[in-house]
Order: sequence, then structure tokens, then C-alpha cells
Amino acid sequence: NDSTLYKAWLQDERKPEGDPFDTYRRLLGRIVVKGEQHARVLSTAVAELINGLQAMLGIQPEVLNELPQEGSCLVLRTAAEPVSGLAHEVPRWDTGRDAFALRWVSADGTERMELDGTSASGVLYGVFRLLFGISRGWEPVRLVTEEQPANQLRMINQWDDADGSIERGYAGASIFYREGEIVRDLQRVRDYARLLASVGINAISINNVNVHERETRWVTEEYLPEVARVAEVFRDYGIALFLSINFAAPLSLGDLDTSDPLDEGVRQWWAEAATRIYRHIPDFGGFVVKADSEHRPGPFAYGRDHADGANMLAEAMAPFGGLVIWRCFVYNCMQDWRDRSTDRARAAYDHFKPLDGRFHDNVLLQIKNGPMDFQVREPVSPLFGAMQQTNQMIEFQITQEYTGQQRHLCYLVPQWKQVLDFNTHAADAGAEVKHVVDGSLFGMKYSGVAAVSNIGDDESWTGHPLAQANLYGYGRLTWDPELSAERIAEEWADLTFGDHPEVTHPIREMLMASWSIYENYTAPLGVGWMVVPHYHYGPDVDGYEYSRWGTYHFADRDGMGVDRTIAKGTGYTSQYFSPNKEMYDSLEKCPDELLLFFHHVPYSYRLHSGKTVIQHIYDTHFAGAEAAEELMHTWAAPALRDRVDPRRHAAVANRLAEQAEHAKHWRDVVNTYFYRKSGVPDERGRTIY
Ligand code: GCU
Repeated sequence: NDSTLYKAWLQDERKPEGDPFDTYRRLLGRIVVKGEQHARVLSTAVAELINGLQAMLGIQPEVLNELPQEGSCLVLRTAAEPVSGLAHEVPRWDTGRDAFALRWVSADGTERMELDGTSASGVLYGVFRLLFGISRGWEPVRLVTEEQPANQLRMINQWDDADGSIERGYAGASIFYREGEIVRDLQRVRDYARLLASVGINAISINNVNVHERETRWVTEEYLPEVARVAEVFRDYGIALFLSINFAAPLSLGDLDTSDPLDEGVRQWWAEAATRIYRHIPDFGGFVVKADSEHRPGPFAYGRDHADGANMLAEAMAPFGGLVIWRCFVYNCMQDWRDRSTDRARAAYDHFKPLDGRFHDNVLLQIKNGPMDFQVREPVSPLFGAMQQTNQMIEFQITQEYTGQQRHLCYLVPQWKQVLDFNTHAADAGAEVKHVVDGSLFGMKYSGVAAVSNIGDDESWTGHPLAQANLYGYGRLTWDPELSAERIAEEWADLTFGDHPEVTHPIREMLMASWSIYENYTAPLGVGWMVVPHYHYGPDVDGYEYSRWGTYHFADRDGMGVDRTIAKGTGYTSQYFSPNKEMYDSLEKCPDELLLFFHHVPYSYRLHSGKTVIQHIYDTHFAGAEAAEELMHTWAAPALRDRVDPRRHAAVANRLAEQAEHAKHWRDVVNTYFYRKSGVPDERGRTIY
């Protein structure tokens, strides 16, 4: 498929005559390849380079083994390290291995480009960076760079099910599965691997964390050859394959009558499973585990704890260098709404903090960015910084479950950046979340970033074509958390729509404004959850208010919000280090945007902005709906309409029209609800029903 929608940010349209393209035509006519000649990833890198140059520059580069006596060329080189494909101790996840340097050498009348990677993956990343530069029309000298990813594991989690559906997927059906089987033709999976590798992703789990009956079998002899086919595709792009597993597999598959992690038979079962897996997939990454969470089985059934469960699996994986990624999304999902003392936000910390230090060194805990569940606004999970002797990863959600489901525009990079930049104050310096997850703060052996994918078999991959920016941005930010959200937006827009400022500047502005627009017409001041239960699309202010999920706003005629303070509330604020603890605990110091997450206040309470809470609700909802309409107009303006190809233009225009309409619905439902509850009129007398 060579439509612009499908190609996403890997557009490869033919570049015109003239510079800088003629310079590249001259420079890149010969490619010298040195290094791990037989490594598959290196072959991929060379093939990607040749294809890209052919398409964009119309040249057919010659591949050489030795540096020519004279004349221009590009030299690709890897450090002499074996990429054996066999399981080996640590270095698979050493960030240093993925580093690359791009140089432009001009001396004695010859020009040369050099691309050095510390591994074949490093070369592959450098190749994509070179192609990005050509695609954006950059001069060679602008491409000069030396880079190393900040994070070891840069992972994607698919929530795809064997029946071809995707949990919380908003872009069509699975590209991996159909009717209970792995698809025969893996071309689309290969194209996905390309997209991921082009932004530095090096790990993927290919099935939903909720592992159902069929996927429980992925670790059996019957299905492993199939899983191995998928692993092979990702291997070519330097991406290690992981599986989500069912903790109760020995029991569910009928092999044993228990899955107690301390049972000898169970330990043996997993050891055999690991041996089998590595026979089929020698560089298998490891397991992702959702246990004792939302009715998934786990060690609690046997009176064991999470460390017992994770360590049992870790022992099975250790001989092969495999990892166990154990999720911390553990809370009571059968709560009684009348019980005001139980607080879901506390749960992950309460469960896992006491276990710090007990996990084996090939276990990583995967912690969602916030204490609840991917809301449009949440504080940062207090587990970051608190777990000092345990490998950790952060989990983001690229799929827009609570942020407009890819029908609304919501560029999430600014949100992720805010999380990564958050100072946990777990140490005097370098205690930002990004330094917890890059492993530097506590010297973790393994660490990194994972995120739930937003792709499906939709032609544009992501449903909303502009939601591609979130997948791209996730990879870029994970590679380098110091990049600004604007810069990532601009890169993405340039690559995706061509380097025309009349097009890309408005798109960048639209992306940058979108998170706050969405927040404005949905859930105010950090309260979250005012959505249609289960679907999570559209307003339903009391949808979760009397439910068992632990997600309440407690609005009455006088006020709203959740009291999580130490003296009067659930004490959640005590899970943070000072001075975050005091900041959130204090009504005066708490930042406005999280006020209702931490405090229950009267509608007349005045924010730092000078507005009352109720007036803030009205104003933001009117402003949000208006801004959503603006997005539609910006996109419809001739500057964009005349330059973006009609199919892409129409696809985005349709989504923006739906968003503008739907934003009005949100606005009116939320404003009306709070007007009826509080009886306080809008100061500006606008229509509320
Ligand atoms: C959310 C989401 C579920 C998902 C869960 C998880 O609650 O709605 O579909 O299974 O997160 O992360 O495990």
C-alpha cells in the first residue's frame, strides 16, 4: 500500500533537482558496508537505505566492501560485536549498543558521510535519521549527530486478542490475528516493525495483557512456531518479541491442578515452558504479566504475594536472559462506593512498596504513569522514586482510551513529557521520573518505557491520521526525553506532510493546543472519570459515581472533589516525598489543575487563577468547545486544504467535524449537570440548560 495515509512519517516522494538533493545524489551513490556483514539488522539497514535513496533521489547506490580510492561515498560501520541471535547475558538491553554517529567529512576535495553504530541496530537508527534528514531537505551538515538512547527498553504493548479484536483499539482490527490464529501474511506486521524501528523502538509484546483462553496457548508447542514467525519479522528490525502470559496457564491448560508459584510442579512447568520458547525464539524478550488485577489470576489465590509470583517466572527465564515485566495495575475493582476510606489511587503503592528489594534482578515492575488509569490529567504515580531497589518501567497509553479515542485530536507528548520531567524528590538531584526510568537514579540493571499501541488495520494505522503523531512522538521521546513536544510535533509534521511551513506550522499548533482543548471540554481540575462506563467515550458525569471501580467525584449541591489529604482524607498524599507531599496536601499550594484530585472543595472556592471552581468549569467548557471548532476551521483554511492531498485532508476534516460537534455535547452535559447541582449561574450569562 503506497498511499500517503499508510506511509505515515515514512513518506518517500521523489525530491526535485537542485540542492541539497543533488549533493546527496553525489554523496550517496556508493555505500561501503563494514561490520557484521551477516547480521540481519544490518541487511535491513542497508535495504532500507537503498530503497529510501532510490525512491527519494532516484539513484541506485552501489554497495562496496572497501573504501574506494577516491570519490564520495557513505560508509556504514558497526563496532565488532557479535549479534549471535543466541540468548546471552546482559548486553541485549544496554543502551550503549544502540548508539550511532553520523558525520560529514569534507577534505582534500572529497566529501564523505560516515555512519557508525555500536551495533547493527545503531546503524539502522542512523539510517532512518539520515533518510529523515533527506526527506526534510536538510543540508548534510545539519545531519551531523552523535546519539545514544536514554532508555534501555523502548517498548510497545499490543492489546490485540486472537479473535482479531483490540482491547481499547480505535483504528480497526488487529494486524496480528484473525479468527483465533496469527495471520499468514505478515507484510503489514513488517511495515509496522519498520515504523517502530524508525523511531527507535526495540521491544514489543504482541498480545493483550488480558490473556484469554486461546492466547494462553501461545507458549505451547502447538503455537510457538507461529509466534516464532512474528518474532522473525521483528528481529529483522532489532525489536525483541515478548508475550503477555496467563499466570494460571499450568492450571488453565489442564496440565496441573494448581498454579501456586511456590509449588515445585508449577516451577518445573514454567522452566519447561521457557526452554521450549527459547528453542523456537532464541532472542525472546520475556513475559508481560497482569496478575491479580481486574479478575486476572495471580499469586493471591494461593496466599502468595507479587514477589513470589514474579520471582518464580524470573527463575524460569533467567538461564536464557529473559525478562519478567510485572504490571503494578493492582487495585480493588469490587469497591463499595459507600466506603469513603478505600482509595484506588493508593493501591499500587500499598501493594508494591513493601515488596521493594524482594524481586529478582530480571524482574521489572511496569507502573502506569498515574495512580488511576490514563485519565486526561492525573498526578504522577508515587511509586516512582519510592521503589529504590527494584527495576522499573513506566507505562503510557498511546491508544486514546480516555482522551478522545482517536476521534478527537489529542497530542499526548506534552502530557508524557510533564510526567517524565516530574521531580519525585527521592534524592537531592536527578530525581525526575525520567531518571528513574532511564535507570540512572537508583542504578537499575533494567529499566525503560512501555506504552499501549494505538494502531490497527485502518489504512492510516491510527484511525485519526493526526494520531500518528502520538506513535511517532512516543518513540522519539523515549529515545530522548529532552526533546521538546513542539520539536517532535514539527519533525512529525514535516516528515508526514512535507516541509511546507504553511502546512506544518498550523498542524504543529493544532497538536500543541489539543491536549488542553480536550481537557477543557471534558473533566476539569484533575477529577477525571466523568465518562460513559466501559466505553469511556462521551460524557456521563455520574457514570462511575455509584459503581465498584473506585472512581468518584463526590459532587453534591455544595462542592466536589476527592479528599486525599493526610488529616481528613484517604492519606494518599503521604505516599509522595516532601515537598510534593506538602504541596498536594495543602489546599493553598495544590496546583489548580489537580485540585479536585486531592481536595473536596465548595463550588465557590477560588483557584489561583482567581476564578471560582464553578466558574472555571463553565469557562473551560465554553472555551474548549470553541477551540475544538477552531481546529476544524484551521484545517479547512486554504493554506492547508490546497496543499494536503485530498484523501488525507478529508479524513482529518471528518474527524475534526465530529470532534467539534461532540465537544458541544460534552460542554452542555457537564455545564448543565453542575449548574443543576450547584444552582450557581454562569457569571457571563451564557446558555446552560
Ligand atoms: C484499563 C482498560 C482495560 C485494561 C486495563 C489494564 O482499565 O480500560 O481495558 O485492561 O486498563 O491496563 O490492564
